[in-house]
Amino acid sequence: MLPPERDPIAPAAPEAVTIIVDGIPVSGVAGQSVAGVMLAAGRLAWRTTAAARRPRGVFCGIGVCFDCLVEVNGARDVRACQRIARDGDVVAFQDETLPGGAA
Ligand code: FES
Repeated sequence: MLPPERDPIAPAAPEAVTIIVDGIPVSGVAGQSVAGVMLAAGRLAWRTTAAARRPRGVFCGIGVCFDCLVEVNGARDVRACQRIARDGDVVAFQDETLPGGAA
């Protein structure tokens, strides 16, 4: 990948964004999805399934499977692969525990 100053297309320098993931600041660049920022930071899973408590993160990456659901700024069930990260977003692990425990 060429640095922006050597790229003949001369793109603008990337703008940094910082989101808070479970209380930890994570840096990305403007235009990245919430999932992209978290994956680039090495986080592969941010939700567990309701019944089997299996970890989930990105599966399809195109908004079809809903495996990447996460809480963003207090709103549950946000598809992390479809939501563009905005500076200051607060992202939280989404617990899918069923009432009374496992199914
Ligand atoms: S990874 Fe499939 S909807 Fe986000």
